[in-house]
Amino acid sequence: MIFYFSGTGNSAWAARQLAKLTGDTAYDITSLNERPDIDNAKQIGFVFPVYAWGAPEIMAEFAKKLPQPQAFTFGVCTCGADAGLAMKQFSKVYPLSSSYSLVMPNNYIIGSDTDNEDEILPKLTAARSELERISGEIRRQNWVYRVHEGGLAGVKSHLVNFGFNRFARSTKPFFAEDSCNGCGLCMRSCPAHAITLQDGKPVWAVQCYQCLRCINHCPQQAIQYGKSTAGRRRYTIHSYLPQDEQF
Ligand SMILES: Cc1cc2nc3c(=O)[nH]c(=O)nc-3n(C[C@H](O)[C@H](O)[C@H](O)COP(=O)(O)O)c2cc1C
Ligand code: SF4
Ligand code: SF4
Repeated sequence: MIFYFSGTGNSAWAARQLAKLTGDTAYDITSLNERPDIDNAKQIGFVFPVYAWGAPEIMAEFAKKLPQPQAFTFGVCTCGADAGLAMKQFSKVYPLSSSYSLVMPNNYIIGSDTDNEDEILPKLTAARSELERISGEIRRQNWVYRVHEGGLAGVKSHLVNFGFNRFARSTKPFFAEDSCNGCGLCMRSCPAHAITLQDGKPVWAVQCYQCLRCINHCPQQAIQYGKSTAGRRRYTIHSYLPQDEQF
């Protein structure tokens, strides 16, 4: 069983590709109605994006509540560049036999512009072959730690991550411009159910996961986060996938 969380599709795609390659099933943790029965699972996997060099809180909370039967366990974090100690920290929550990072297109448009097409396509090509390699190792149940931690990993995963979860996840800076046509897609697709429509415009609850699905998915590109996101590209993986990899 492979459990995933994903904002803009990278981790969903990686989880589904891995499931295909290893003959397994991928489950979106935000769509599970009951606690999954994993007692007889031979392998248990987790796939999620790196947020400020750590695992998303929602994934860590999910894993905390999951039983730990005798099984081969693995985790794959997707990241724009580097993962810090995200997998070592996650492994303390749910012990992992194998840990990987997978470099994917960057969706964090609050910090900088997203990757352009010349960067996105090669990243996806490299990710496909890395997933083939990972799936072989999972099938053979090899124990592997292949995580690109990057520089100052400890500082980033402790100090910066703490600051991110404590102070930077506010929804206050989100707003919709006049080009919003009230289609409601942002509200329907928010995994945190943090968006409602009031007078035909989105309104955000106080806190959310900051997965950036709403800002990246809006068909009108009407959503902004403070002043930093105007004029920046939007990213979701779906625009870059061939038909047989769409979901
Ligand atoms: C809130 C937030 C924080 C992020 N922090 C990092 C980071 O610390 N290191 C990194 O390489 N990428 C970072 N990223 C980029 C994502 O991890 C990366 O694009 C990921 O593949 C997105 O996966 P998804 O499409 O499944 O949501 C961050 C993205 C978001 C939204
Ligand atoms: S997805 Fe965009 S256009 Fe649709 S309601 Fe949300 S902000 Fe408005
Ligand atoms: S409000 Fe936007 S950024 Fe926050 S969880 Fe929902 S979709 Fe993700």
